[in-house]
Formats: sequence, structure tokens, C-alpha cells
Amino acid sequence: MIETPYYLIDKAKLTRNMERIAHVREKSGAKALLALKCFATWSVFDLMRDFMDGTTSSSLFEVRLGRERFGKETHAYSVAYGDNEIDEVVSHADKIIFNSISQLERFADKAAGIARGLRLNPQVSSSSFDLADPARPFSRLGEWDVPKVERVMDRINGFMIHNNCENKDFGLFDRMLGEIEERFGALIARVDWVSLGGGIHFTGDDYPVDAFSARLRAFSDRYGVQIYLEPGEASITKSTTLEVTVLDTLYNGKNLAIVDSSIEAHMLDLLIYRETAKVLPNEGSHSYMICGKSCLAGDVFGEFRFAEELKVGDRISFQDAAGYTMVKKNWFNGVKMPAIAIRELDGSVRTVREFTYADYEQSLS
Ligand SMILES: Cc1ncc(COP(=O)(O)O)c(C=O)c1O
Repeated sequence: MIETPYYLIDKAKLTRNMERIAHVREKSGAKALLALKCFATWSVFDLMRDFMDGTTSSSLFEVRLGRERFGKETHAYSVAYGDNEIDEVVSHADKIIFNSISQLERFADKAAGIARGLRLNPQVSSSSFDLADPARPFSRLGEWDVPKVERVMDRINGFMIHNNCENKDFGLFDRMLGEIEERFGALIARVDWVSLGGGIHFTGDDYPVDAFSARLRAFSDRYGVQIYLEPGEASITKSTTLEVTVLDTLYNGKNLAIVDSSIEAHMLDLLIYRETAKVLPNEGSHSYMICGKSCLAGDVFGEFRFAEELKVGDRISFQDAAGYTMVKKNWFNGVKMPAIAIRELDGSVRTVREFTYADYEQSLS
């Protein structure tokens, strides 16, 4: 048995998402780039590479990882590049997308050897949670003023628009794309490619992938553009668990169980977005609040039901633990960082990364 805590990536489950992505690519003509900000565990890139067109990035280090570990088409994007990194970014990228007109003007010449694009902000999004809403008031994420964009059209041949966030609703996606067309259609007709970003839950069980693909194909035919999708969460959804062990149980008006992990250190997004972890089947007569071992009072994974009383040494699997977890894990409290393991297609499990005291020590100085 592998020592906990560890993330366990299941290749069979990952393949299911990959096959849906491949289906959408084929039906729609869109290309799919893995958004490394969500998931960058390169040990499974050998599998993903066969189903996706490449990667997109948010920084110099991500674009380099995409080029070196995934290969294929590599897009660079960042909210802002520094003078000291732009040459290296360009050296790793096939296309570069600037977040603002001023960044485009500043670096267009340095990036003259590769395709250049600009991020547009349509000022409408699927998110009502302002922390994650790219269209929030005063957003810095992209340009929205059509006459201003018109003035730089000679320096770009593509756009990126990311305004979906965990959007499971095809109707909403369709309406927002209609608004984008109304507002930016004349500009879109003048470029060669448009990336529609991530945040679209098209690998979910009930998502109407055929209607989605037809909508993408109609868009690309109307404007004569190559569409890109940048699935992060949709690429890896439900593929991975975080495996933990109960270290202690208490009763403080509720049954509590403390595990050898921490929501703040190992599943940080749940804390940021005020969501709870998922445990399956979450049935039975014993209810427990499952807590992390950091000092944060609110280090709580959630309350779940179990068939039996929990005891020290019992193992628990948190579901859906691939996206924005391994890329965000941290050394808060010096809590042991989860190892990374892979369940191969033949059912065997191998550990691909373990973290030790030396990793903790070397993350500081
Ligand atoms: C520009 C861009 N592309 C892609 C993504 C990936 O989004 P998701 O993981 O929700 O699919 C994000 C997420 O923030 C993003 O900002």
C-alpha cells in the first residue's frame, strides 16, 4: 500500500475525458490545448498528447513546460510579460497572446517571428463569483474597446476570449458566444484564429457535445477562423482522487476526523471558492466532519456520511482532485506534500513522485 497522502490519477478515467475531447475536435474542427494552469502533471502527458493538440500557458515556466514536456502546438499567454522573460517565452511558443494593447505594442517586434494575438474581454461571463469572473468591473483581463483594437489589427492575426467558468450550460455558452459575435464579429472576420478559452464543461456526462460541436463549426465557418479550446478542468475532471488516512477522531458536538492532509495545502481551490470536497458514496449512519491537519481553524474538507465508525488508520478518498490541486499545493505548516501516483490502464499503480523534507527545505532559504 502506498503511504498517504497521495494524489492518484486514474488513466482509464482520464482516457474517457480525452475521448470526448477528441470527439469534439473531430466534429467541430476546433483544436484543443491543455490549460497547464489547471493541470501540469507531465507524467500523464504521453497519454494526453494523442488526444489533444498541445498546451496553453500563463507564464514563462508554463510555456516552457508545455514545449518541453507536451510538445505539439504551444501557446503563450500571460497577464503581463516582463522585459527579462519575453525572449525566452517567444523561443518556446508557436503563438503568443498579449493581454493588453500596451503589452502588444511593447513586445510585438520581439515576437515578430511567431503568430501574435490579443485577449478580448467581452464584459460578459458565466461566473457570478467575482474572484473568478474575468468580466468583473474594472477587470484587467483583456481589451474590450473595439475602436482601440481596430488600431492594432495589423499586428495580430488572432484573438483569445476566456469568459466561461465551470460552465455546464450549453445554452448559456451559446448566448454568450452570440453576444461576442455581435460585439466583435467584424474584428473576428479579419483574423485567422480565435481561442475561446477554458471553463466549458463539455466532457461532463450530460453535456450536448454534438450541439456544442455544431455551434463551434458554424462559428468557424462564418468567420473563416480556426477555433481553439483551452480545456483545463474539462480535460481531467473526475480522473483523480486524493488519498488520505485518518490520524485522530474527536467528538466536539459533532464527530470529527483529522486526516494526514490539509485542504489549504492540497486542495486550495475548495477553500478559496468555499466549496467542500467530495467523498463517495457519502452514505451510511455515521456522519463526520473531515478536517485537515494544518493549524488553520477552517481547515475542513467537509461533512460526509460513512457506513462504519471511522477509526485511526482508515483511508478516505477525496474525489475529483486533479484540477488546480497539484499545481497549487504548498508547504504550509510543513505538512507532507502528497505523492503523485498513477493507476495504469492494466490496473497497476505506480508512484511517480514523492516529496521529502529536502523538497520542503529547498523551497525556502
Ligand atoms: C485563459 C484561460 N484559459 C483556460 C483556462 C482553463 O479553465 P478551466 O480549467 O476552467 O477549463 C483558464 C482558467 O482560468 C484561463 O484563464
